[in-house]
Amino acid sequence: MNYPFWDVGIGYGILMAVIAITHVFVSHFAIGGGLYLVVAETAARRANDVMRLEYLRKLTKFFVLTTLVFGALSGVGIWVIIGLLNPAATEALIHNFVWGWATEWTFFIVEICAAIIYFYGWKTMTARSHQTVGWIYFAAAWLSLVVINGIICFMLTPGKWLETGNFWHGFFNPTYWPSLVFRTGICVMLAGIYSMAVASTYPADDFKARTVRYNAWWSVIGLAVIAVSWLWYWKAIPADITTRAIEMMSTPMAAIDLAYWFLGILAVIVVIFGLAIPKFMHTAVAVVLLALGLGFFGGFEWMRESIRKPYVIYDYMYGNAVELAHTDTYQREGYLSQMAFRTGDDGADLFRRACRSCHTMDGYQPLKPAFDGTDAAFIKAVILGSHTLRGNMPRFLGTDEEAGLIAGHIWDQVDQRPMRDVYRVKDVELGKKVYDIRCGKCHVIGGYNDKTESLAGLSEDEFADILDNASDYGEEMPAFTGDEYERKALIQYLGTLEEGGEQ
Ligand code: HEC
Ligand code: HEC
Repeated sequence: MNYPFWDVGIGYGILMAVIAITHVFVSHFAIGGGLYLVVAETAARRANDVMRLEYLRKLTKFFVLTTLVFGALSGVGIWVIIGLLNPAATEALIHNFVWGWATEWTFFIVEICAAIIYFYGWKTMTARSHQTVGWIYFAAAWLSLVVINGIICFMLTPGKWLETGNFWHGFFNPTYWPSLVFRTGICVMLAGIYSMAVASTYPADDFKARTVRYNAWWSVIGLAVIAVSWLWYWKAIPADITTRAIEMMSTPMAAIDLAYWFLGILAVIVVIFGLAIPKFMHTAVAVVLLALGLGFFGGFEWMRESIRKPYVIYDYMYGNAVELAHTDTYQREGYLSQMAFRTGDDGADLFRRACRSCHTMDGYQPLKPAFDGTDAAFIKAVILGSHTLRGNMPRFLGTDEEAGLIAGHIWDQVDQRPMRDVYRVKDVELGKKVYDIRCGKCHVIGGYNDKTESLAGLSEDEFADILDNASDYGEEMPAFTGDEYERKALIQYLGTLEEGGEQ
């Protein structure tokens, strides 16, 4: 907690996703495209295919512009964003992998130089040297993946590094190899669809047909590698992470389901427009392919980034930069004493540190609707029990007093009228609302930690006992602090619960 906090009104998860996903979509093409260019060039020269060589020259221009200009800029953008969003995690990655980064950047410089020479060398260099430069380009680009893949996988599966702190244990971590193969498959697949996009602008003649078909085969091979290595990849992620993701994290699982769909549709379009009727590969179809590719890759990356929640580095650091190794210090001395930069408003500072990396008050993952119509005591109890909520949140490791300060800060910003005025409902409907807000965060009916079975069929006295003696039932369970109306309405609602479903 040694850095000032970057507090702007955007959802950090979304910001990170947008920049990172567009970057990987281009950077993987930079690798696959490099291989494509030099392999296709070799074949075209051997066949003395002048038209194909001219097409490749044009493709190189598109390639250099997208990968070098957009890829390099967005890559720097990622550093800026992660440095602002989570300086502590960024620092941890830099410290642990200093030489990894240095190696990666060296490859990147070689890659950039080779790409520029390759582009300008089409007309001036001999065939042989030009191809050599092409291979140097591809090798440097792929080797940068070889390096960065280790660091990216490390965040989800740090493996033995957690005990040893050894560079190589962190680097060659459990998902390293499957991820490398998987990503290489993506590179090849993307080379196919990007190069089809360029070929799609050509007049519908035989040249276009054979070029599109050739490019489509790249996508098909890439798709095959993706399909096979995906299963290997998923199996390599420790089972406790994947099982919990399947049970508790509907959004990342929906993202990966969507990714399957995108990939499936993409495969069908590649087969139809790429292999069967390549002359009709219209630019609009190519754009759809690119969009599907982006959607697939986005879904996959979203899932990968999300299932390690609540950690930013699994089992090592939470998303809010709280380092697990410092648990004792936090619990003894609190978060505030660890903050080098304080604004004077302790509640706000604590909120930024403990919650703001994943929530806003009323934008991305908003907390206001979760607490409108409640009270500071309830909010504090939820903070202290945050690890028992649905959604897999980090445990609050600060002091009891600090939880109170955060609760005060949140309560100042919510609707403080009673729930019946906030939502303009009464009786059972009010009861349902009270349940959703005061119980449903920890017990989703028909879902996460459902308590319907325990609650169905109890008497009013028994309900009253649960509300009055909450902590006897669960240590983290908040006492009921709503007003008389809410209490009555909630008991009325609980009386309607039946086992095996709602009402
Ligand atoms: C590492 C990320 C992370 C941090 C830090 C975090 N949360 Fe959460 N929180 C989540 C996620 C993810 C969910 C589930 C959201 C969903 O599925 O809609 C969630 C859900 C919640 C919910 C339930 C929302 C609802 O409507 O059901 C509340 C309330 C909440 N968080 C409060 C807090 C508070 C207060 C803090 C700070 C003390 C905090 N969270 C810190 C990630 C985080
Ligand atoms: C901050 C999280 C949280 C909230 C909010 C919460 N509970 Fe709980 N509840 C728990 C925990 C933790 C336990 C004990 C562990 C377990 O059974 O999951 C528990 C246990 C229970 C049990 C005991 C279940 C059994 O199996 O015997 C019941 C019943 C229950 N809660 C009902 C409620 C009702 C009704 C509300 C709303 C007024 C509520 N809870 C609000 C966290 C919460």
